[in-house]
Amino acid sequence: MKMNRRTFLKTTGAAAMASALPISLVRMAFGEKSPAKDFSFAYISDAHIQQIEGSKFVRNWDMGLTRAIQEANLLTPRPDFFFFGGDLAQLGKREELDHGLEILSKLRGKIYYVMGEHDYYLDLGKYWESNISPLWYSFDHKGVHFVVLTSILTYDTWTHHTKWTTPMDRMLAMARLDNPEGSPFLVGEKQRAWLKRDLEKVDKSTPIVLCSHSPIQKIYKGWNFWTDDAESVQTLLKPFNKVTVIYGHVHQIQYNQVGNISFHAVMATAWPWPYPKSYVQDPSHLPNLTVPMNRADPFFERDATGWQFINLRTGNVDMHYQLPDNGNRSVVFNRKAGRPQDAKYQGVGSRVPPQTHY
Ligand SMILES: [Fe+2]
Ligand SMILES: [Fe+2]
Repeated sequence: MKMNRRTFLKTTGAAAMASALPISLVRMAFGEKSPAKDFSFAYISDAHIQQIEGSKFVRNWDMGLTRAIQEANLLTPRPDFFFFGGDLAQLGKREELDHGLEILSKLRGKIYYVMGEHDYYLDLGKYWESNISPLWYSFDHKGVHFVVLTSILTYDTWTHHTKWTTPMDRMLAMARLDNPEGSPFLVGEKQRAWLKRDLEKVDKSTPIVLCSHSPIQKIYKGWNFWTDDAESVQTLLKPFNKVTVIYGHVHQIQYNQVGNISFHAVMATAWPWPYPKSYVQDPSHLPNLTVPMNRADPFFERDATGWQFINLRTGNVDMHYQLPDNGNRSVVFNRKAGRPQDAKYQGVGSRVPPQTHY
């Protein structure tokens, strides 16, 4: 049956909430014994607000973010708070960040911010830090420990290289998808030391939700779907029973499991990225994904900007995707297998092959 939104929401039962493109909803539930603790939050990511000149901005990206906010404001019940997942700007300019913030100011509720590389590499986060948000922080909410990292830092030798005539040269080098002059992302030693101290205070049974911009796993280096010190961060998360990493940056559906950590990407309000064939075909770029993954057809233009419902029940995330012009998908944590699974997709015959034109 092709589900419309109404039937889709019905089938997700009590956890369902009304929503639409292109935000990600997260509902947290801690079992029937403590319904008072149930709560939800919404996630909006990768707006890429881009200045053309003066007060002219790329209209499509403005509209994507505006639409997400309009729909987020209609959510019932109200989410407890929102995340913006990074890449608010395209080239890190104050004009772009300010314009993005102005659009975001229409969102009714508290926003937590995650830094993206498109926000960072012009002024190395100065404007962001003094006007928007700290680069890394944590907070507790109704029994869940949330951590926000800036995962898009890189090696100082690259950042401060003499080859950059202007800060914009550096920004433009990091803004490219195929990144020929770029550098792998890093959380870095300083932030990892902070994370270690932060997590020491947290009980091991507390669900951890870590939000980063790049994946804290190694997906595809050629496009910087990658964090160089991912394993060191994962080691710090290992002692906890339930850990979910939610990230933006890749503008597409991704999920994976590494040890005790479930990974889920959120979609973008701007544009979709295709699925690189090297996910499966170039061993030098991997460790492989441990979970065979559904690939929505990359030729459906809006697939990476679809609707996504996230249900975090007893600390494990379940994702429900509603994609324009494509089938609905549910990626549900399978307790027995200990990883997220897409029930429709696990058979080899039902997989959409990765594209080959790159
Ligand atoms: Fe992005
Ligand atoms: Fe990004």
